Amino acid sequence: MATTASPSLLVPLLFFARLSGLAVALLVLFWALAFKSSFLPSSLSQQDLIYSVLHPLLMVIGFILLSGEAILVHRWLPGSTGFKKLVHLSLQGVALASGIFGIWTKFQGKDGIVANFYSLHSWMGLICISLFGAQWLIGFLNFWHRGEVRRARINILPWHIFLGLYTYALAIATAETGLLEKLTFIQTKRNVSKHNTESMVVNSLGLGLALLSGFVILAAVSPKYQTLQTKLVYSQTRCLSS
Ligand code: HEM
Repeated sequence: MATTASPSLLVPLLFFARLSGLAVALLVLFWALAFKSSFLPSSLSQQDLIYSVLHPLLMVIGFILLSGEAILVHRWLPGSTGFKKLVHLSLQGVALASGIFGIWTKFQGKDGIVANFYSLHSWMGLICISLFGAQWLIGFLNFWHRGEVRRARINILPWHIFLGLYTYALAIATAETGLLEKLTFIQTKRNVSKHNTESMVVNSLGLGLALLSGFVILAAVSPKYQTLQTKLVYSQTRCLSS
């Protein structure tokens, strides 16, 4: 039988998830504050500059970091299942609002919706936020519809987990394409060296996101399956020995 991480791995996994999350937050803040000139829009207006800086900040800190934290809630938060669900739903709600606002900032100063969606990044972003929104709505309805047949809720759960983790991974992949796109703009427009400080910061940010997603997803799946598996093996052993 395949072995999975033991529940005792949860503490270091949560620790490394938070550590990489903190590094990601600091890196994106540092990038936005120290390299403001990279975000200067063609209009040169202060308002457009704010919108341009807000997009990566809202998408990385508000959308990715918060939704990762919401995924982890079920792994560490003490209290009743109802309480955990409420915290999970609220954090995901704030993440969704940040994501919608973050995408909205990119519509500013451009002509028409269709004109904005030309890149792989924008297409992936649109799919990601739509899936996230649909997932949140279904979770919300499910949460408030407590009278719903228990069997139906049990059937929905594996799909909820799959779609949640898939959307989270898609958000990471979308952010990576956004970073790459922005870096390409910077390097071609300003003809800067490929080994400059800003490129190192953005590369580290991308690497931080890749590490973070690994820790969050592993923390989300491992202990649960281990517990179920252990229970299964334990009950089978008892059946055989009795
Ligand atoms: C989960 C994270 C992200 C999502 C869901 C997302 C989504 C989107 C969407 C839907 C658009 C198209 C909107 C428009 O152009 O009007 C867009 C544009 C853009 N985003 Fe992101 N984004 C994310 C993270 C990032 C990050 C981290 C950067 C890094 C700076 C970035 C850079 C850009 C740029 C430069 C554009 C304008 C060019 C384009 O449309 O491709 N994005 N984003």
